[in-house]
Amino acid sequence: MSNVAVIGAQWGDEGKGKIIDWLANRAEVVVRFQGGNNAGHTIVVGDKTYKLSLLPSGVIQGKRSIIGNGVVVDPWSLLDEIGRVCAAGVAVTPDVLVLAENAVLVLPIHRELDAVREMSNTSKLGTTKRGIGPAYEDKVGRRAIRVVDLKDFDSLPAKVDRLLAHHNALRRGAGADEIDGDKLLAELKEVAPKILPYVGSSWRELDAARRAGKRVLFEGAQAVLLDIDHGTYPYVTSSNTVAGQAAAGAGIGPKQIGYVLGITKSYTTRVGEGPFPTEQVNATGEMLGSRGNEFGTVTGRKRRCGWFDSVLVRQTAITGGIDGIALTKLDVLDTFETIDVCVGYRLGDQVLDYLPADAVAQAKLTPVYETMEGWNCSTRGARSWADLPANAIKYVRRIEELIGAPVALLSTSPDRDDTIMVRDPFLG
Ligand code: GDP
Ligand code: IMO
Ligand code: MG
Repeated sequence: MSNVAVIGAQWGDEGKGKIIDWLANRAEVVVRFQGGNNAGHTIVVGDKTYKLSLLPSGVIQGKRSIIGNGVVVDPWSLLDEIGRVCAAGVAVTPDVLVLAENAVLVLPIHRELDAVREMSNTSKLGTTKRGIGPAYEDKVGRRAIRVVDLKDFDSLPAKVDRLLAHHNALRRGAGADEIDGDKLLAELKEVAPKILPYVGSSWRELDAARRAGKRVLFEGAQAVLLDIDHGTYPYVTSSNTVAGQAAAGAGIGPKQIGYVLGITKSYTTRVGEGPFPTEQVNATGEMLGSRGNEFGTVTGRKRRCGWFDSVLVRQTAITGGIDGIALTKLDVLDTFETIDVCVGYRLGDQVLDYLPADAVAQAKLTPVYETMEGWNCSTRGARSWADLPANAIKYVRRIEELIGAPVALLSTSPDRDDTIMVRDPFLG
């Protein structure tokens, strides 16, 4: 039995939350390893819907849930989320949740900076304005405040000074008010006692889990096309989202990752700016959006919609390290007479079978489509392969062929139980 890492294989919102919750039934530990509260993972169980941003999806099933060192943590937002989830009847106590002491904090200055940049046409990327990029900048700039710093108020003022020396210089240059260090210190001192009960060590927890033979699920946020290295730069998030990051962002060796499950929708969506070759700004896009209820979980923004792009997913399967995929939202395609799948790109007189790295070239690509027959009947709620119409099976098999990876799971509605297992990811 192997551990499983779940990552997004497109531009996010593929249904990672649903699939992780479903797999969590057979895991003992669930770990987030990157991103922050820019993520929005939806879990539907009967008439209850949970939307998680920082909490690992394992909390819903009461599994040991770790926020790993690779995550950037807004402590106020985390407390809000714990409050919301507890109010919905799910216990999030220190017995369930562990927050890595070496994770970096997202502070109000980060949120503010993110929002200011989004107001400028020259720096706008369509971020979630949660301060994620600025917090990671401070992390690699070696001036961030970390979770563990909340334990030691004696050394905190010097750390705040170092951080603000950078930010206030920038703010002076931009003609903005300087940040008051005492105010920030007071805010941190106020939040610290509420956060500290959850603080622990991700790497030691996971080492103990390994020794005890416990099964671990690694929960990716965002997706490979939003990866800082492998995504559509600069229209990406500020962390590595590929499976390799599960090791660095949780504190384990790469050999412990086991099976990598990439999640992909049966079509494509993207929220925020950036290239999107198969985008349909027409009735087809509207139909995908309304049938798929494509509105951002975090920001409520309308998601851009288009056909499945096998070139992209073939590439993310390689760069992300994906062994097999979970194909979600098959039911959204139920009413289409025909379904297009992108199988290549035209760029001038060339035909490409990959996404060029250059953003200018990316914006000029014209997709080459293969048209498949739709199935014109409902697959919603299908729970076995035998329940699927022949044309839906043809579609799934063609996708496998095009992306060079097998389908391990199929999802046919938001509900936890409407999931078809073709091959068990825990079996490797
Ligand atoms: P995540 O960020 O990858 O966890 O995905 P989100 O939760 O942001 O967005 C996925 C949306 O699709 C959520 O509203 C899910 O409830 C929903 N969803 C997941 N799987 C399916 C499916 O198979 N069919 C349909 N119709 N909706 C699904
Ligand atoms: P989940 O985990 C979809 C997008 C934003 C923006 C870009 C950078 O729910 O799949 P950021 O706030 O991270 O600096 O924004 O990345 N983005 C997401 N899109 N799903 C997400 O998470 C996303 N997290 C960030 O819309 O384009
Ligand atoms: Mg989401």
